[in-house]
Amino acid sequence: MKNILRIGVIGCARIAEKYTLSAIRSSEHLCLAAIASRSKEKAENFAKMYECEPVWGYENMLVRKDIDVVYIPLLPNLHEKWAVESLKAGKHVLNEKPFVTNLSSAKTVVGEARDRNLLVMENYMFIHHPQHAFVKDVIESGAIGEIRLFKGSFGFPPLAKNDFRYDKNSGGGALLDAGGYPIRAARFFLGDNLTGIGANMFIDKVSGVDIYGAAMFRNDANQVAQISFGFDNYYQCNYMIWGSKGAIVVKRAYTIPPWMEPEVTVEKQGLVKNFTLPPENHFQLMLDYFCKEVLNDKNYESHYSSIIEQARLLEYARNNSC
Ligand SMILES: NC(=O)c1ccc[n+]([C@@H]2O[C@H](COP(=O)([O-])OP(=O)(O)OC[C@H]3O[C@@H](n4cnc5c(N)ncnc54)[C@H](OP(=O)(O)O)[C@@H]3O)[C@@H](O)[C@H]2O)c1
Repeated sequence: MKNILRIGVIGCARIAEKYTLSAIRSSEHLCLAAIASRSKEKAENFAKMYECEPVWGYENMLVRKDIDVVYIPLLPNLHEKWAVESLKAGKHVLNEKPFVTNLSSAKTVVGEARDRNLLVMENYMFIHHPQHAFVKDVIESGAIGEIRLFKGSFGFPPLAKNDFRYDKNSGGGALLDAGGYPIRAARFFLGDNLTGIGANMFIDKVSGVDIYGAAMFRNDANQVAQISFGFDNYYQCNYMIWGSKGAIVVKRAYTIPPWMEPEVTVEKQGLVKNFTLPPENHFQLMLDYFCKEVLNDKNYESHYSSIIEQARLLEYARNNSC
């Protein structure tokens, strides 16, 4: 059986340069075959740096017969088109987050993947960091009692004015860019039966994108998730899980660098325990997981439903802002 997948990257994006390309090159299941750009020069520069073939024009990546997987770190408004094109060309797809910009697009891409039995996944790499499995184990041990609340925040100070995140047409906005992380984490801990119970977003009049906001969801067990996000905020990248007997705090939840030791605090009446866990590269772990799913598991339904769930909750927050 084939145990190495050949991957092509479309877009010489910052996130690819900063983390994903090096993680791909370190993966034992992936071979970085080629990288495509709108610019011939950019493709050549990246290809030289990462020792693969340059491709000029995204469509020229998809006609290649030697590519099994396409990684798409493009602007969010381009994710649907290039994911669909990649699937039609018979490739598995790893889309950067946000998977697409609305629920209807998510359904379109998932439909194309299901028709061809190909894997599509959204690159919420943080969920693969073992610190979250550690937290789940603490919860399952009963240490903090029954879960009452998940509260997650991801936000940061203003970005450069020309960043695509301030451009509505590119799929910008704080909900899609930052809010998706705590929503994904809430789903990890509270499950996939969340219902929206309120949302609020501040929309900047000039750019037309949401700059900060919050949303609340509830599951069938009456556990509540409070989510907050923003681009004009004091830096926060955390979550807190509040139980009937204690609480757990994760300080660097969503963007922990590969060298950083995660810190998890478990509090109970009269007792505070700080755990320092080993560092991990969650991009690497995400890629390993993606490859194992392609190589071993030919039933991708759980991945399809995960994409739809995430898009559904984002859509709720967007459409129900008071
Ligand atoms: N998982 C994570 O931790 C993480 C972190 C950061 C960002 N992201 C996601 O990754 C994606 C890319 O983010 P980024 O910050 O890396 O963005 P970026 O550096 O601006 O890259 C986006 C890429 O899109 C391509 N592109 C196509 N049409 C474009 C246009 N009209 N204008 C500008 N670029 C265009 C460009 O590739 P070429 O010029 O080579 O064609 C560009 O390199 C987004 O979906 C973002 O949310 C994920």
